[in-house]
Amino acid sequence: KETEDQLIIDAGQKHFGTTVCKSCGMIYTASNPEDELQHVRHHHRFLEGIKYTGWKKERVVAEFWDGKIVLVLPHDPSYAIRKVEDVQELVDNELGFHQVVPRCPDKTKTFLFISDDKKVVGCLIAEPIKQAFRVLSEPTGPESVSSKECHRAWQCSDVPQPAVCGISRIWVFRLKRRKRIARRLVDTLRNCFMFGCFLRTDEIAFSDPTPDGKLFATKYCNT
Ligand code: ACO
Ligand code: ZN
Repeated sequence: KETEDQLIIDAGQKHFGTTVCKSCGMIYTASNPEDELQHVRHHHRFLEGIKYTGWKKERVVAEFWDGKIVLVLPHDPSYAIRKVEDVQELVDNELGFHQVVPRCPDKTKTFLFISDDKKVVGCLIAEPIKQAFRVLSEPTGPESVSSKECHRAWQCSDVPQPAVCGISRIWVFRLKRRKRIARRLVDTLRNCFMFGCFLRTDEIAFSDPTPDGKLFATKYCNT
């Protein structure tokens, strides 16, 4: 039933013969039984986690031709909170975050991008903050971007700048990336975070960005 393609990635021996699952997006080696077993486990849990059945009461804050954005607040019905927790667990797993406790869970706003085929394909978790530390060192040239160096921590200024809104997580389903879903999530956040005003890009901050997050944030904030 599953549709899978053999993908040959031109990145050396290690990646030769890698398969990308067309439904869950996991990259694995089909010829390796252990890998395959890991995929089966991940596959079901992941698809169950991103499944969105529709809610009686949902707060639609933006609509697009390919989906909509739903906002979930801390005191929403338990089915909404449970979905957010499930999605956050998948996201944290992928990001390698463990047990990150929100600073003020009562003020957390979660934006879910729901695709037309009823899946949560994007998630943005934001919380109010008072200050942020600007990133100082930028990767220089294409060499350092592709090297291991981009995994190191970004250097930050020790002088805090005032900010309003911190993005603690931003994630888009692997198979739906580069379709401006993250951009639309942040646009919607800026519009909805504080009633009656559209936040400037210097009023939002990305906490602890990954290399992907940094590339996106840099691009987003400069356009
Ligand atoms: N490499 C280079 N440029 C990028 C990348 C990338 N991986 N991702 C986004 N951009 C830039 C591009 O310029 C892009 O525009 P273009 O496609 O027209 O060139 C622009 O940002 C807008 O990108 P979107 O399509 O809106 O971004 P997307 O929906 O693909 O989501 C995200 C980006 C969320 C970073 C996604 O890659 C992802 O989920 N990655 C894995 C999880 C992750 O690392 N999240 C960030 C964690 S940091 C944090 O949560 C605070
Ligand atoms: Zn799969």
